[in-house]
Parts: sequence; C-alpha cells; structure tokens
Amino acid sequence: MIPKKPKILVARAVFPEVLAKLDTHFEVQSNQDDVLWTPEKLAQQLQGKVGVFTTGSQRVDAALLAVCPELKVCANMAVGFNNFDLAAMTAAGVLGTNTPGVLTETTADFGFALLMATARRIAESERFLRAGLWNRWRYDMFAGGEVHGSTLGILGMGRIGQGIAQRGAHGFGMKVIYHNRSRLDEATEAQCKARFVSKDELLAQADHLVLVLPYSESSHHAIGQAELSQMKPTATLINIARGGIVDDAALAVALKNGTIAAAGLDVFEGEPQVHPDLLTVPNVVLTPHIASATQATRLAMAHLAADNLIGFLCRGKALTPLNPEVLSATCR
Ligand code: DGY
Repeated sequence: MIPKKPKILVARAVFPEVLAKLDTHFEVQSNQDDVLWTPEKLAQQLQGKVGVFTTGSQRVDAALLAVCPELKVCANMAVGFNNFDLAAMTAAGVLGTNTPGVLTETTADFGFALLMATARRIAESERFLRAGLWNRWRYDMFAGGEVHGSTLGILGMGRIGQGIAQRGAHGFGMKVIYHNRSRLDEATEAQCKARFVSKDELLAQADHLVLVLPYSESSHHAIGQAELSQMKPTATLINIARGGIVDDAALAVALKNGTIAAAGLDVFEGEPQVHPDLLTVPNVVLTPHIASATQATRLAMAHLAADNLIGFLCRGKALTPLNPEVLSATCR
C-alpha cells in the first residue's frame, strides 16, 4: 500500500513551480484565487492539515491552534513573523519558520530607493508633472534634502539595517549612526562604518532615519509624536519594517505642520488600509509593502518557506526554525 502523503494548506496564492514542488511531497490544498480568509475560515481550511504555508497576513495564535490540533508547522513566507504568536506556538508544540537571508539585499535596495525618492521628492514632483503643472524651471522647484554626505540613522541593525548602512556609507559617503537592542561587534561596525548611539541621539542627529526593527509590543509606536518632535525639521523618516512601529496619525500631523520634512512608508498600521490623513499630505511617498518584491527574491522566499515544510515534515529538520525548542520536545 502506498503511504498517504501528509496534508498541508497553502494559505495564499504562490508561484506555480513552488506549488508543484510541494505537490511532490504533500497532499496540497492551495488558494490560487487568493481568497483572504477570516480566522474562522482559515481554521476550517486547516482541519486535517499538518502544515501550513503562510504569509504575513494570516494570524497564528492560541485560538487558532486550539481548533487545529493536527497542525505541526507554520512556514511563513516572510522574514517578519509578527503574525505568529510564537509563545503560543511553542506551548502547543507547533514549529514556526520564516525566510531570513534571501531578501536582505533586495530589501536594503528598496529602503535606499525609498530614502532617495523621499529626500529628493521624486513622487511629489512626478505627480506635479503628470498633472500638467510644469511650465518653467525654477531655482527652488522641488528642492529636497541632500543624501550624499548627510547623516543616515538606522533604528534596528539586523541584516537589512546593515545592508542599508553599507549602501549609505560606501555608496553615498554618509555618516552612519544606529541604535539597536544590542550593539554590533567591532568588526561589523567597522564594515558598516556605523556608530552606536542612544535613541535620543539618533533622533536628534539623523538627516534620514530608516526603521528596520521587528514589530513587537515593545516597538509599538516606537516613533510617535514625542519622537518626531525630537527630529530635525529637515529630516526624512523611512519605514520599511512594519506598520504599528510608527504612529501614522501622529506622523500625518508632523508632516502637515513641518515637524519633519518628509516620509517614505512601505508599511502601515492596519494595512492594506492607510491612514486617510497620509493620503492627503504631499510630502510622503507611499508604497504597498513591496520592499522585498523582486521576482527573484519573492521566488527565493517562497522556495525557502516550502523547503521548511518539506524539511520538517519529511526529514524532521527545518532550515530556518524560529522556535527550534519544539524540535526536541515530544511531538504533539
Ligand atoms: C517580510 O519578509 O517580513 C516582508 O515584510 C514580507 O513581505
């Protein structure tokens, strides 16, 4: 008798070649129509499944795990995993995995692109041109902030933060300062030409402040009205980390009243909803959570998530586990 393949759910649409790979190992229920399920609907789809391929938009928490007793592994196609309640998953003996490494350079590229677009007012000036408003050259037209030689501040200095630091220091001769939960070792600081400073100094000194820290209860509204008022009125703020790290309502006010010069946002509180006030201020560049979105990188992320499912369910070993302690614990 041919042994039955384990059943898994792929919760969002994904590259067909990745589905084909998963199909060789599992009985796969896919969602190529990309229906956005409610938590209740997701729980229904998960019945009888031992693994799930998620993106950042499916919440995995104690309530879901309680009604999906057969689930053993959740593989996120994202480096961020704030959609996972990892403590609840560990308590339930469910492994979580993410996709670190494969998106570092692509995301750092995008962080820098957003910084440049924001400081040099590219989106705002393009809207002006498309609206047919350009009728002459003017000495101060869309004069933005200098990028080369300015001070680049980075909040959160993991792999992506270091990638942005390298681009700033080596490509644009920027002075790099950073703040992080823990200080980097000397060799990494030297490679990034980055100096560790307090959060207060970071806010006060940065000409361009890039947020690359993970979202958690402790980073919720890490940038709010108080922090924005510590920044230079000429400064730009770039968020490629997660919505919720910035208080978007406070940011819209700060952009309107000139507390800071401009912002570039790829992530939003409650996305895909965007705070309505951000849609009406001109000095903000808004993109729909695409920092890792190149064909090659998104494919690499999807393959890594799939390989985590295959590795864990077929060989007992995931490539990039988030809570490896469940691997040594008794299977549930
Ligand atoms: C990540 O990898 O965390 C990205 O935000 C997903 O697009």
